Amino acid sequence: MHCKITVLIIALLSAFACTQSEAPKPREQGDLARDYFTFANAEHFVTDHLILDLYVDFEAEQLRGTAKLNMRRVDEHATEIVLDTRDLTIESASFFSSAGRSIGADFRFGEHDKIMGTPLIVDVPRTIQADPEIALIITYRTSPNSTALQWLPAELTAGGEHPFLFSQSQAIHARSWIPLQDTPAIRITYQATISTPPELLAVMSANNDPDAERDGTYEFDMPQRIPSYLLALAVGNIYFAPIGEQTGVYSEPELLEASAFEFADTQAMLETAEAMFGPYQWGRYDLLILPPSFPYGGMENPRLSFLTPSLLAGDRSLVGVVAHELAHSWSGNLVTNATWRDGWLNEGWTSYLEMRLMEVIYGKERAAEENVLGYRELLLDFESVNPVMQALAPSLETGDPDDFQGTIHYHKGNLFLQYLENAIGRKAFDVFISKYFTDFAFGTITSEAFLDYLDENLLSVHGGTVTRAKAEQWLYKPGLPDDAVIPTSARLDEAAAMATAWSVGEVDLEDVPVSDWSPQGIVHFINSLDAGLTTEKLGKLDQALGLSTSRNAEICRTWFIQVAERQYRPAYAALEQYLRRYGRTRLVKPVYEALAKNGSDLQLAQRMFAGARGNYHPLTVASIETVFERALESASELRDES
Ligand code: BES
Ligand code: ZN
Repeated sequence: MHCKITVLIIALLSAFACTQSEAPKPREQGDLARDYFTFANAEHFVTDHLILDLYVDFEAEQLRGTAKLNMRRVDEHATEIVLDTRDLTIESASFFSSAGRSIGADFRFGEHDKIMGTPLIVDVPRTIQADPEIALIITYRTSPNSTALQWLPAELTAGGEHPFLFSQSQAIHARSWIPLQDTPAIRITYQATISTPPELLAVMSANNDPDAERDGTYEFDMPQRIPSYLLALAVGNIYFAPIGEQTGVYSEPELLEASAFEFADTQAMLETAEAMFGPYQWGRYDLLILPPSFPYGGMENPRLSFLTPSLLAGDRSLVGVVAHELAHSWSGNLVTNATWRDGWLNEGWTSYLEMRLMEVIYGKERAAEENVLGYRELLLDFESVNPVMQALAPSLETGDPDDFQGTIHYHKGNLFLQYLENAIGRKAFDVFISKYFTDFAFGTITSEAFLDYLDENLLSVHGGTVTRAKAEQWLYKPGLPDDAVIPTSARLDEAAAMATAWSVGEVDLEDVPVSDWSPQGIVHFINSLDAGLTTEKLGKLDQALGLSTSRNAEICRTWFIQVAERQYRPAYAALEQYLRRYGRTRLVKPVYEALAKNGSDLQLAQRMFAGARGNYHPLTVASIETVFERALESASELRDES
């Protein structure tokens, strides 16, 4: 009896002690290295390896199966594991002890957050509390509303006969298809068994086998450690065509030939990248061409970049996106931003490396053109982004990390690195690049750690050419420093001059040398036209250059933004078709925005959106909805004022 009471008291005391050590630490205000967008208690347990076994059910629009997380204990007193989830149904949780036993575990959901999802709290049974390594097995299913997954009916694919599924995990959507520690600060290896309808093929951000037997069961292995936002899966009527020895393209058969042509330079890009940035660490590099609703231009899923089919312009003019996604194999996938506020370390670095690749493969002038177009977008962004958010590395603790990645991270980040290269000299900067990727390989880095590293390895070595204070200005201040190196392009200058000359009637359209220009030149020409062109002139331009019917999505984008801003109604039917044909957010959102803001067409834009939204990804839909919400708000503010 006595003994039992003692045991009880000890148990109560130790439970109390554990509860205390488990009490959530108050968040330190302004802890820059902290990821504010995860519930995971990474200070207690860290995942090393994930084993997925999932069945892909197109009828139920659901993945179901198990996720086994091999975890390491980093705090000996911790008694629970907190994972990120969103809209997951958890059927059971159990642990697999090192002695080979399965032990059921209690679990519960914590409080739901609109952006972060719902924490899943799993109690670690006492019997394995001393184990330094534990395996947690969760049986679960996803919701048809999973924010990471788009389940496409056959009508929205190129072939029109088979359904298609793809994931998009960045920034914090992996948690809506896998219960895990969803933070870029933790890296895992993974294995997966994916079961699909037998006629379809599954591919992942892992070792895809181009010769896989199509039998509906696919095994994957990802031996390199990756952050959770790079977990990716696609299932569909997918086939493979080789490009080079180590490179190839996956797509529906209808697009395979066009894709292999468009992206024929991928092997050369890979080899160029290796020569400049250091060894490619991931084995194969393949591309996957998705249906039009894929919301981004590209996504750098390791070993298998996901791409929008809108890059298939027929002339390889939009392959900058491939250079970009490939470059992420170094900046982002190998050296990863520690938190989403450090996104410029992924995207700014990648935009810089993309320009370096473009320069070697397509020449200085082409790289310069893309640089100028990026700079122009940056200037436009500065007009609307509040000064605090114009810093490369603002301190952010709230908001949606998907929204952090405006052009600031990309183009201001790119200009910062170009500034450093210019000040220090390309040769020395290239040495720094290779060393950076070697020193931080398979690791994560904050903006502050980068600043220290930069100071130590470059700034102080090069005796004050660039001061630390200058680097801090780039990271923490709005706008651009006065001595930023502004991109220029002789060919784009010519296009802009021609746009002005034609606008004011100094030259005829026949004398504008458009056929000498790249699509980027035409984009710049359209952007440089005078305000207030007559309907007649716009009509002539459209006809002569075939703008409304262009196969080049970037030309169409630029043109239809202008069409909407200038209310050039003869092209509205073509504009509406364009909005139905493409789904990449970058292509459609600004056109709706221009219509919504032109003072006459808000309702028309809403009607067009109602007709096209079924073709879009939920992330794209949400993003366009905010455009309308804002437009309606400012319309009612205007009414109140008058
Ligand atoms: N990683 C991004 C896409 C992304 C960003 C997804 C933020 C989710 C949140 C990808 O590498 C990217 O930058 N894509 C660009 C390509 C372009 C800049 C060349 C895109 O989709 O426009
Ligand atoms: Zn990117």
